[in-house]
Amino acid sequence: MKKRIFLSPPDIGREERRAVAAAFDSGYVAPCGPMVDEFERETAKLAGRRFAVAVSSGTAAIDLAMAEYGVDSSWTVISPALTFIATVGPAWHRGAKLEFVDSDETGNMDCSLLEEALAARRRTKHLMVVGVDLYGRCCDYGRIAKLCRRAGAVFLCDSAEAVGARFKGLPSGSSGEIAVYSFNGNKIVTTSGGGVLLTDDHGVAERARKRAQQSREAVAWYEHREVGYNYRMSNILAALGLAQLRRLPEILEKRAANRRFYGRILPLLDNTDGNGWLSVAVMGSRRERDALMRTLAADDIESRPVWKPLHLQPVFAGCRSWGGEVAETLFDLGVCLPSGTSLSAADRSRIEKAIRASL
Ligand SMILES: Cc1ncc(COP(=O)(O)O)c(C=O)c1O
Repeated sequence: MKKRIFLSPPDIGREERRAVAAAFDSGYVAPCGPMVDEFERETAKLAGRRFAVAVSSGTAAIDLAMAEYGVDSSWTVISPALTFIATVGPAWHRGAKLEFVDSDETGNMDCSLLEEALAARRRTKHLMVVGVDLYGRCCDYGRIAKLCRRAGAVFLCDSAEAVGARFKGLPSGSSGEIAVYSFNGNKIVTTSGGGVLLTDDHGVAERARKRAQQSREAVAWYEHREVGYNYRMSNILAALGLAQLRRLPEILEKRAANRRFYGRILPLLDNTDGNGWLSVAVMGSRRERDALMRTLAADDIESRPVWKPLHLQPVFAGCRSWGGEVAETLFDLGVCLPSGTSLSAADRSRIEKAIRASL
C-alpha cells in the first residue's frame, strides 16, 4: 500500500527521542524545569529578543499578549484577512471589534490599506494591529511598526508560521511590542503543541510568565491578586523543541529544497527570505486548482486551499473589511502543497507525476 503524503508532518528522529528521554529521566516532568528555561533562552536568541516565555500554544501566547494590554470591548483589533483564525481568536473572545485588511501580491497584509484603516480609526484610543508572517514569509515589519507608532496602536507580530524566517536581515518575531511563535505539530519546529511570547520588555515577560501560571503571587501559600491561566509549556516538550531547534539549519534547507522542486513545475506564492513552511502554488483558475487537488488526493497526497479569508468566515460576518479581493483570489487559486522536512525523492517524484497529470 502507498503511504499517505502529508502536508507538513512532524519530523522527529533519534535526537528528539534522546532529548525527551533525558528530560523524562531528569524528573522534571512538570510545566517548569531546566529545559523550559533553555528553550526560552534559545527562542529569544533566535528572534533577536531579550525575553521569551514558553507556553502551551501559539494561541496561548497571543492570548497573553491580549491580557497584557487588557484588550476588551473598548478595543479595535486590525488583522490581515488572509490568516488562520487563531490570529484574532483571543481578541474575539475578549469582545474586541475586529477589522480585516486585504493582502498585497505577496499574500501579506497590504500596508496602504492598513494605513487607510488606521486613518479611519484616528479617534479610537485602544487600537491594536496584528501583523502576520503568512506561510513563513515576514510581513513588512518596518512599515507596520511605523504606521502603528504614528497611529498610537500596539503592534503584535504573529510569527506563528515563521520560525527561522528573516525580514531584511532581521529574524522573524523581532518586531512588534510582542511577537509569538507557534511550535504546533505542523510547524517547521515542533514541541508537538507549544508557543512562545517574545518581547524586549522585562515587565511584559514577567507578567506573561506569572499569568501563564495562574497569576500566583511569589509566596509559599496560594495567593492571587488577579485570575490567571494555565498556559506553561511542559519541560518534556521543551526538550523536544530544543532538539528540533538544533536541527533548524537542516530543516530550513530541506524546506527550501521543497520550494525549489515545486518552483520548477508550478507558479508559487512569493516566500522571499521565508522559512518555506508551506509551498503555495497559485493556479490560473479555480477549476485548475480544484483539479490539481483532486488528482493529488486520488494518489493519497494531502493538499489544502490557502486560508479562507477571515472576512468570509460566517462567524465574522458584520466585521469591517478593508478590501478583500486579493485574499479572495488567493483563496480561489492557491493550494498548499506537501512541504514536510521528511519529503523523500520518491515522494517528490510521486507528487510531480500527479501534478503533471493534472496540468
Ligand atoms: C498565523 C497563525 N497564528 C496563530 C497560530 C496558532 O498557533 P497554535 O496552533 O500553536 O496555537 C497559528 C498556527 O496554528 C497560525 O498559523
